Formats: sequence, structure tokens, C-alpha cells
Amino acid sequence: MKLEALEVLKNRRAIRAYKAEQIKDEELDAVLEAGTYAPTGVGKQGVQIVAVQSPEAVAAVNRLNGAVMGNPDAKPYYGAPTVVLVFETEDCVTHTLDGAAVCTNMLNAAYAVGLGSCWIHRCKQMFETEEGKALLREWGLPDTLVGVASLALGYPDCEHPTPKPRREGYIVKV
Ligand SMILES: Cc1cc2nc3c(=O)[nH]c(=O)nc-3n(C[C@H](O)[C@H](O)[C@H](O)COP(=O)(O)O)c2cc1C
Repeated sequence: MKLEALEVLKNRRAIRAYKAEQIKDEELDAVLEAGTYAPTGVGKQGVQIVAVQSPEAVAAVNRLNGAVMGNPDAKPYYGAPTVVLVFETEDCVTHTLDGAAVCTNMLNAAYAVGLGSCWIHRCKQMFETEEGKALLREWGLPDTLVGVASLALGYPDCEHPTPKPRREGYIVKV
């Protein structure tokens, strides 16, 4: 049994405070690569991953996500220096599920390489806006991509959170 992998899966937590220091390229690459090895429907790999690190682009995605919540000045990525966006491509039937699998692989990989991460919602609405579509075009991507999820990534600036006890009845064996 690969105990180390199980420890990573159990101990990863959502991190909501980050240092401003940028993560190392090799750490980012390890996380992104783990995403590409997630299972996808019929192995189609119909997911687009976008790693955002330029301060201007990070500020723009913070604004976009905050605006969906009604406050463009909110810090929905908690000051993380890297944001990873996950999109479904138009021609994929299992799209959203594939994107979620990719996202989960990256969260766990982030913890495995010593980074903090947090899944951040509202990616779909962010890229339905004109500003979101303009960003996609600026990045050389089709503006028809559909947002699935996004991730804050960085060095934690907090104690490692303690998980809630697991829900009674979470598992049934028959
Ligand atoms: C679909 C989904 C959407 C989430 N959206 C957010 C979010 O917008 N902001 C946030 O701080 N955490 C978000 N989270 C993180 C959850 O709040 C977190 O995973 C949950 O509280 C359990 O904590 P843990 O990840 O430390 O086990 C999201 C998680 C999932 C799976």
C-alpha cells in the first residue's frame, strides 16, 4: 500500500492565507502535470488548464471572481500569487466532471510538493463575462471555453487547518 499517497489525500486542507512570495517553477509544473494525469471521460483530456502568475492577470482574475460575488475588491484567492484556472472545452461530453477530477489532482499534488491550495468557485460565471472572454483572447485561447473551477496556489501563511470530523454515515458498505 502506498501510504504516503494516502497521507497526502487525508491531510490536504483548504488554505486561505498566502505569502506574497511566488512559488518555484518546478513546484508549479509538478502540480500542473499531476492535473494532466487525472482521469477524463474516454481519456479525451478535454480540459484546458491555465496557470496565471503575472501580477496584472492575477489581479484581473481576483476582480472577475469578486465581481461575481458582488464585490470586485474582495480577495477571493486570498492573496495567492498563483491562480490556476480549469476550463472544459466545448466538444467534451464529460466536461465538468473531467475538470473537477483535474482540479482535485492538482489540489493533492500541491500539498504533496509543500504548497497550499484552495478550490475557488465561480469560474463559470467569471468567463461568461465580456471581461473574462477578453482575457481568454488576450491569452491566445478561444473565448468559448467554459470555466469549471479555479485554484489558489502559494505558500501557506497560516497554521495547517484541522479537518472537521467525517460525517456519520458517509460510507455504507453493502
Ligand atoms: C466545488 C467547490 C467549490 C469551492 N469553492 C470555494 C470558494 O469559493 N472559496 C473557498 O474559500 N473555498 C472553496 N472551496 C473549498 C471548500 O470550502 C473546502 O474544500 C471545504 O471547506 C473542506 O475543507 P478542506 O478542503 O480543508 O477539507 C470549494 C470546494 C469545492 C469542492
